[in-house]
Amino acid sequence: MQIIISSFCVLALLQAPKLTRGEDFGYDGVIGPTHWGERYRECAGKHQSPININVLRVKQVSLPDIAFVGFDDSIDGVHVSNNGHTVLIEVENEPHPRVRGGPLEGDYVFSQMHFHWGDNDTFGSEDKINHRSFPMELHMVFFKEEYNNVKEAVLHPDGLTVLAFFYELDRHQHPAYDDITSALLNVTEPHTTVVMNNPFSFLNILPYDLRRYFTYRGSLTTPPCSEVVIWLDFEQPIRLAHDQIEVFRELKSAHGKITHNFRPIQPIGDRVVFYNIDSNYFSYNEIEDPDDQTPATTKSSRRNHRRNSSFLNTPQGSILVLMLTVLGTLLIKNIYL
Ligand SMILES: *[C@@H]1O[C@H](CO)[C@@H](O)[C@H](O)[C@H]1NC(C)=O
Ligand SMILES: *[C@@H]1O[C@H](CO)[C@@H](O)[C@H](O)[C@H]1NC(C)=O
Ligand SMILES: *[C@@H]1O[C@H](CO)[C@@H](O)[C@H](O)[C@H]1NC(C)=O
Ligand SMILES: [Zn+2]
Repeated sequence: MQIIISSFCVLALLQAPKLTRGEDFGYDGVIGPTHWGERYRECAGKHQSPININVLRVKQVSLPDIAFVGFDDSIDGVHVSNNGHTVLIEVENEPHPRVRGGPLEGDYVFSQMHFHWGDNDTFGSEDKINHRSFPMELHMVFFKEEYNNVKEAVLHPDGLTVLAFFYELDRHQHPAYDDITSALLNVTEPHTTVVMNNPFSFLNILPYDLRRYFTYRGSLTTPPCSEVVIWLDFEQPIRLAHDQIEVFRELKSAHGKITHNFRPIQPIGDRVVFYNIDSNYFSYNEIEDPDDQTPATTKSSRRNHRRNSSFLNTPQGSILVLMLTVLGTLLIKNIYL
């Protein structure tokens, strides 16, 4: 029941029992995004999402670490549904995964995740980075625990947090997405649901770097567009094969295939976007060359290496750092004395 109620509210009462409200918005024509404000006052608000993030205008910060609780659990009985607007993934197990830390005060409990995509791979994400669109975007929606459920949380300005992840094309299939895409084949019709065949882990479908993200205050990107969301947009995209993204475009609404379901960017107004970089993290540019032809095996070893750049935190790493520091000090002394 919890599952049904939460998705119900976040995506504007889209689920089966009250179709009337959910069916009155879409992405084209008279029910398209430019008309949402006529029926849903908040969609014409001043702190709406999505936005374009101009990387030159962000304010760099070093926030406390985020705790991703239960993200590596192996979850059974995961539901995948087509609600007529998007793919929803919901979990039954208790306790639900949760997040805390970063810009968040208190714990936020998982409600559902869903996707936004475009007609082809040149656009489809909601937020943009320096006006760059990505072919797809994942939204993981959490409500603040003290408000007990999504319905109550949307009445408070800090009620929800959405973890947003961009997708980018890879030549290789992402194996963790095979279970999702095979479930999608069974929910092409609107208002259908399947239970995933295999256990599912949040961490498996996410990128490696969960430390670098943009964060700002905004809204739901579907009616009623409530301005209650603390957005976290992770910088490192998830890499999916074209064929895997293509499966999402097979889903149907009451009006035919859902070829696109992203809202255009909204004015940023007086808002500031913060960019979290982890000062303890040995960092280098995470964005890989899209034409990269490295075979999967070398790629994954490179990824492990990247993850293990925490080598600098190991005893051997510390000795190396110490030696370099001493050497550097000596050199500087020689130069200046
Ligand atoms: C993607 O779709 C847009 C809009 O339909 C179109 O203008 C553009 O040419 C398409 N791009 C490709 C690579 O198919
Ligand atoms: C989808 O349906 C096919 C048969 O049509 C079945 O083999 C497969 O297991 C189903 N997938 C899920 C996730 O239910
Ligand atoms: C990276 O190294 C740390 C110890 O420095 C270790 O705890 C961790 O499991 C390693 N991660 C990977 C992906 O190998
Ligand atoms: Zn969304």
